[in-house]
Amino acid sequence: MIAALAVTAAAAVSVTSVVLARDDPPPRFSADVQPIFDGKCVSCHPVAYPYLDLRRERSYEDLVRVSAATRPAFQRVLPGRPELSYLLVHPPDPSLRDLLTSDERATITDWIRAGARDD
Ligand code: HEC
Repeated sequence: MIAALAVTAAAAVSVTSVVLARDDPPPRFSADVQPIFDGKCVSCHPVAYPYLDLRRERSYEDLVRVSAATRPAFQRVLPGRPELSYLLVHPPDPSLRDLLTSDERATITDWIRAGARDD
């Protein structure tokens, strides 16, 4: 009986965590998105391309609702619209195509979709 209860409890916990996972809060800019830039982008932005500074404390204001320098018809980040955000279209250079892992791409996409907040 006790064993059966324990099994039931374990099942209840795992169902709960699946539900929680689905309701996970969106990625946070400072904790989840900026570390991707720190690791993979700041060697070129701003060092080689000063029109885009992806360092902490500068990146947000250089991205959100800012026109792309190379494709001014696009905004670098359009809150709520990852498919229209030039940040995710980069890089134009084919050698950089695999710069972001699919997890990193998903993190940035989810952050934009949830409104691209500075949190
Ligand atoms: C090896 C250098 C290099 C790295 C690393 C790099 N980029 Fe770039 N980035 C470029 C080049 C080159 C361009 C195009 C510059 C041009 O055409 O004038 C560019 C352009 C961009 C643009 C378009 C800016 C605009 O306004 O037109 C965005 C957005 C961008 N990069 C984001 C990133 C992100 C995010 C990362 C990290 C995941 C990253 N880049 C890493 C070289 C790099």
